[in-house]
Amino acid sequence: MARKKIIAGNWKMNMTPSEAVKLVETLKPLVKNDEVDVVFCVPAIDIVPVVEAAKGTNIQVGAENMYFEEKGAYTGEISPNMLVDAGVKYVVLGHSERRGYFGETDADINKKMHKAFEHGLTPIMCCGESLEQREQGVTMDFIRQQVKIGFQGLTADQAKAAVIAYEPIWAIGTGKTATTEQAQEVCSKIRECIAEVYDDATAAEIRIQYGGSVNSKTAADLFAQADIDGGLVGGASLKEEFGQIVNYK
Ligand code: G3P
Repeated sequence: MARKKIIAGNWKMNMTPSEAVKLVETLKPLVKNDEVDVVFCVPAIDIVPVVEAAKGTNIQVGAENMYFEEKGAYTGEISPNMLVDAGVKYVVLGHSERRGYFGETDADINKKMHKAFEHGLTPIMCCGESLEQREQGVTMDFIRQQVKIGFQGLTADQAKAAVIAYEPIWAIGTGKTATTEQAQEVCSKIRECIAEVYDDATAAEIRIQYGGSVNSKTAADLFAQADIDGGLVGGASLKEEFGQIVNYK
């Protein structure tokens, strides 16, 4: 089946609110592409101004994280209902930087996956191995565990609506993109894992992105792969280059 490509920028901890509005104004004309879902995942402080700046365009806004409660004594956290009220449609969950720097576990991410769906947000759940795990040959053991625990208890319909982002940690921010063969191999095995957990129809419908030093030179070959349905782009999403990635064909 034809899955609509989804190409998302993950701004990480970059862009003040005024810088964010300027970047949206710059990228608006460059990211026009009706054949692709275009998402800007931005820091919490930038969400309201970016939603406003993106009004009337094809740009959808995502958050880079959220908590799994609606309200309460969780200083510094952002709730799903706050994101929805602000006009957010997607939320990145379980990015390797959240897992690595802030100790997020697969169980935490599973709670967030359920909460995202409860509030009508589309989760982009990140998974991916370290260089050591790849060298030890345990890449898929590790990723299968991330996917199985992350999706635990979700219905097939929820899984179909979700997005998985395969981001090998050794390719993030390094300028070293995984080869198309490496990326395709892991994304196809992630799809096989979804088929085992759910069924072939669910596996055929879920969208799987690649992330890790995606740039305008590597995007077309990556996104042409049978099991790669787009990208989660870091550094290159902060530049005009992101327009070339969105219009990779
Ligand atoms: O979430 C996307 C990010 O981890 C990839 O970053 O800079 O390697 O494209 P970058």
